[in-house]
Amino acid sequence: MKRKMILDCDTGHDDAIALMVAARHPDIELLGVTVVAGNQTLPKTLKNTLNVCDHLGLDVPVYGGMSLPLVREQYVADDVHGESGLDGPVFGECHKKAEPLHAVEYLINTLMNSDGDITLVPVGPLSNIAMAMRLEPKIIGKIQEIVLMGGAIGLGNATPAAEFNIYADPEAAHIVFSSGVPITMMGLDLTNTALADMKVIERMEAIGNKAGKLFGDIMRFTFRSQAVNGLEAGPVHDVTAVTYLVAPEMYKTQDMFVEVDTNRYGPGYGRTLCDANDRFHKKPNVTVGLAIDHEPFWDLVENVLRRHI
Ligand code: RIB
Ligand code: CA
Repeated sequence: MKRKMILDCDTGHDDAIALMVAARHPDIELLGVTVVAGNQTLPKTLKNTLNVCDHLGLDVPVYGGMSLPLVREQYVADDVHGESGLDGPVFGECHKKAEPLHAVEYLINTLMNSDGDITLVPVGPLSNIAMAMRLEPKIIGKIQEIVLMGGAIGLGNATPAAEFNIYADPEAAHIVFSSGVPITMMGLDLTNTALADMKVIERMEAIGNKAGKLFGDIMRFTFRSQAVNGLEAGPVHDVTAVTYLVAPEMYKTQDMFVEVDTNRYGPGYGRTLCDANDRFHKKPNVTVGLAIDHEPFWDLVENVLRRHI
């Protein structure tokens, strides 16, 4: 039985790889892609998403969503993803167009008409998901699970306290984390170890198809830009949220109570406070990814890229 999922992304380098995996994994039915502002402004993240789909012939509907966070001012990650949000690869003319429906309406319509068997995989700021929950609270009972990339038990990357996806819209993250929907969180403690170093890049390029070349063009760029985070290579953060759906056995996880710091005037703004030692004695609301087995992870990515053109 295929896992039905909707990818919500802010394409972005690692978002693009996550899209490539979600679109062609044999055990995933990618129903649609919703796009949010994050790594760059919405026009850019939407264009990048359409470019990747068009380039690889991915026939999946794409919906533009929230262009701004719910409360705070816009915050983009151009230091890592560049002016376009997907600097590095060069795309030809894009023939794919976004659907006319707003992403939030698409999420509500799709979830309300479903049998409650859809997993949401948000890998950018949570503005679309939170807005959908506020516009139609009934969707909360219709979401099978949320598997997201975001947050951290330890050090953040946007600030010492906060990971980018949460920091870019902390109030949206609070709405999602406190919704009661089953959540699995792939935070930086795990995703920063999924590094596309030169050995990985050359392995994927050696596949010899368009997808392998695109992987190389994308990850060679972040190979350089990730130095801002003190990493030796570009992490494919978002891919770890998608692969969890089809290979949870690759992951070490722990259930714990997690809350989002929304005190916008404090140094912890956007922090995911992860109660790993149960100091609050509160019921766990999140399954947090602690570690991933890298060998089967990269094998899975390679095998999916081989299924592309
Ligand atoms: O902190 C990493 C996250 O921020 C990833 O989703 C990356 O694409 C950026 O959005
Ligand atoms: Ca992202």
